Amino acid sequence: MAIDELITEVKTLWKFDYGTNIKALRDLYEVAKKEQWNAATDISWDFEIDKDGDILDPEQDPLRDFDFIQALPDEKRRQLAVRRAAWTLSQFLHGEQGALLCCGQLVEAVPDIDGKLYAATQVIDEARHVEVFYRYIQRLDRVYPIDPALQTVINAILQADLWQMKCVGMQVIVEGLAMGSFKNMKKGTRDPLLKQIVELTAQDEARHVSYGLIYMRDELPKMPEDERNRVEDFAIMAIEAMVRPAVGRGGLGSQMEIYSDLGIDPEAATKEMREKFRSPKFRNARPNTFRDYVIPQLTRIDLITDRTAPKYRELGFEV
Ligand SMILES: [Fe+2]
Ligand SMILES: [Fe+2]
Repeated sequence: MAIDELITEVKTLWKFDYGTNIKALRDLYEVAKKEQWNAATDISWDFEIDKDGDILDPEQDPLRDFDFIQALPDEKRRQLAVRRAAWTLSQFLHGEQGALLCCGQLVEAVPDIDGKLYAATQVIDEARHVEVFYRYIQRLDRVYPIDPALQTVINAILQADLWQMKCVGMQVIVEGLAMGSFKNMKKGTRDPLLKQIVELTAQDEARHVSYGLIYMRDELPKMPEDERNRVEDFAIMAIEAMVRPAVGRGGLGSQMEIYSDLGIDPEAATKEMREKFRSPKFRNARPNTFRDYVIPQLTRIDLITDRTAPKYRELGFEV
């Protein structure tokens, strides 16, 4: 049984003043209680998945017109699409578990009672997301291992010593990616079951992002400069760790096994990916959850400063 052990540093804060001090967070807690759903009974699990249909939107697939994919016989192309969808959804599943663990830490680590109560509702939201994605992936194919870049980022969030790093890393960056991806998936999937799942999940993720934005807008201006700089640098580290492989420099990365299993030459595929992804025009032609969701959110909480803006530009973002 695969299990990873991490030693984390969470400073646990008791709060004995139970009155509201950040009203917007208390309001969000009320909304979260009302919008609970049940992954076992609110999803139409009796729908069959049509594995010949488009689980994920081919229009949003950057590899769609690649030679090494076009050269495949139809049957293999369909198998590849199913496995790649299961690989992608597996990353969401692992990300959901990461969010569950992180949010448990936030219950302990945030200093405000409103922040603790709200985070408690998010723990159950994330539990539901783990449940729902695991159940769906099992029907589709199988769970694939976590991508190393995603694991690096989630481990860094879990091991961060400042709660503000956890909040920016998970609630603003990772949750922003999840919310954007689920919205894109909802638009593009032809599978009614997955559509239902990502619709309900995206509603929760939108609330999770709101928590990060409300809390950090309140908190960041109060932080001492050295700590605030550490939070800014942490955001860049997290984004860079995920964006660099995503722009194709890493080639097939952890999807290698899927391609070689189907008899695709991994070297030829890697070469084509590296060549095409090098072009910014190619990269910018499709939905990009970092550009469309994460960067605007970091801007809203003023986390991109004169000091750090050049690093975002180096990664290809217009800030
Ligand atoms: Fe989630
Ligand atoms: Fe979430």
